[in-house]
Amino acid sequence: MATIERPPAVDEEKLMQFVFRAVDEVGATLNAALVVMGDKLGFYRALAGAGPLTPDELAARTGAAERYVREWLNAQAAGGYVEYDPESGTYELPAEQAVALTDETSAAYLPGFFQIALGSVIDSPRITETARSGAGLGWHDHVHDVHEGCERFFRPGYNAHLVASWLPALDGVVEKLQRGARVADLGCGHGASTILMAQAFPQSSFVGSDYHAGSIETARARAGAAGVGERVTFEAVPASAQQGADYDLVTMFDCLHDMGDPVGAARNVLEMLAPDGTWMIVEPAAGDRVEDNLNPVGRAYYGFSTLLCTPASLSQEVGLALGAQAGEARIREVVESAGFTRFRRVAETPFNLVFEARP
Ligand SMILES: C[S@@+](CC[C@H](N)C(=O)[O-])C[C@H]1O[C@@H](n2cnc3c(N)ncnc32)[C@H](O)[C@@H]1O
Repeated sequence: MATIERPPAVDEEKLMQFVFRAVDEVGATLNAALVVMGDKLGFYRALAGAGPLTPDELAARTGAAERYVREWLNAQAAGGYVEYDPESGTYELPAEQAVALTDETSAAYLPGFFQIALGSVIDSPRITETARSGAGLGWHDHVHDVHEGCERFFRPGYNAHLVASWLPALDGVVEKLQRGARVADLGCGHGASTILMAQAFPQSSFVGSDYHAGSIETARARAGAAGVGERVTFEAVPASAQQGADYDLVTMFDCLHDMGDPVGAARNVLEMLAPDGTWMIVEPAAGDRVEDNLNPVGRAYYGFSTLLCTPASLSQEVGLALGAQAGEARIREVVESAGFTRFRRVAETPFNLVFEARP
């Protein structure tokens, strides 16, 4: 019978520590599906502010089947998402979890993060195949949870920072927006950033574009619902497409690294901008070296990068595949090689870096 050779000097205690850490991670992996389930079935919203509830009560309030609700609650209690009281057999959502799981206006709002993670995992068998061949997988090819999760993940951060701190950090841009500026938001997805800027600056006009026609359809509906449909138009075109000239501001939110040819897209931005125009680039927070990103945020972003961003870029011409953890030095290289003469970092959060590039 074949025996398995063990490396010498295995520390059994460290081995078991690793195994139990992995148990926690398997629970966390499954929890992505459970959080999305709780969000879609309204469990968190029914629990928020309701005080202690039995599974029966939560089932009655949400119309879901009690046996599933009870099992879901136990998993949530084991993960520290809800608190269980054995005396009364009730479950309660703590106030902080209620904010993070139900308050869409909070910067701490989490369901979109889980939704895009779950969508990425659902699509992972296809990425396993492309990783063998080196082929790509386009953004448009993903399940809807990736598109909607992306919108819901990024919007709280844009709500918190875009108008309050990122735009004011750019040289002279807010004054132009207040007077009436022309703005193009490339790779806009569902248009969360475009609509937010349009709401804040009623004198200005906005064009959002994205190569994914499905996202643009959603963006148009969102703009209509937000009452800014008059001043915002959306076009289903790639960032390399001719989209007019003399823009005061061109923006890209978390999409430059997803593009196959970011240098080509940057050259196009240079042609679109007025001579004193500004390109604002928002990219995932990252250091320049791998070792700078070996932390929880880097871990999540390298994960998304493997399953979403790198295949997205590889699916397009050039396929530069910057990855979601490109870092400032690499982004500067892309921007300067396209012909921009000025580049600086103007803001950062734990999740994003914000750059200003000028012709
Ligand atoms: C991570 S999502 C970000 C979407 C949006 N900017 C946001 O912040 O919610 C990346 C977006 O880049 C778009 N994209 C990828 N390659 C593109 C290209 N070459 N031209 C235009 N859009 C592109 C994708 O369709 C997707 O909507």
